Amino acid sequence: MPAIDLSAVQYDPLNPVIAGAPVSERRLSDLQGYFADTAAFEQALAMDDPVLYRVYSLEPGTGEGDLAYGFGVLMPGKVGQEYYFTKGHYHAWRAAAEVYIGLSGSGYMLLEDEQTGASRLLPLTGHSAVYVPGGTAHRTINTGTTPLTYIGINPARAGHDYGSIAERGFRQIVVEVAGTPTLIDRALYAASGRPA
Ligand SMILES: [Fe+2]
Repeated sequence: MPAIDLSAVQYDPLNPVIAGAPVSERRLSDLQGYFADTAAFEQALAMDDPVLYRVYSLEPGTGEGDLAYGFGVLMPGKVGQEYYFTKGHYHAWRAAAEVYIGLSGSGYMLLEDEQTGASRLLPLTGHSAVYVPGGTAHRTINTGTTPLTYIGINPARAGHDYGSIAERGFRQIVVEVAGTPTLIDRALYAASGRPA
């Protein structure tokens, strides 16, 4: 792998592949249990196991004051009526905030406050940035027809906590209702199998 100059990284906003950077790749099968419509998930997986997203991670330093950042590429698509998303996580160091900067495509960030359980859905597009406060679960969601690409920047020591989301999921999810991305209660959707 070529060495990366971590002080000056070049990227294509439409497809930010960072050669030489550690990449985590998640396929549909890696998100078993995450989508609300389990029948639609099994049906989709029986057909194909596409890559849903890739994240290229850059860590220039691991000291107390250092930042880490990652380039995300989330594909368009749906399982049932639910749009493709990243698993989502808290930071292991709960106080750590993060800034997401949209590069291309059209989607949202779903935030869920750990203390209050309150959800917020904020646009993430090629011309928007989202601030994720500490103590907040966050995921990106692609509601468009092209890859959603973005940069996330957080304290290097933030770490990831995927466990609580894997266990119980987000309280709310984003599904297509009459052609429009709509935030609805996950339990309601799961109970009905399809939104009303
Ligand atoms: Fe994060």
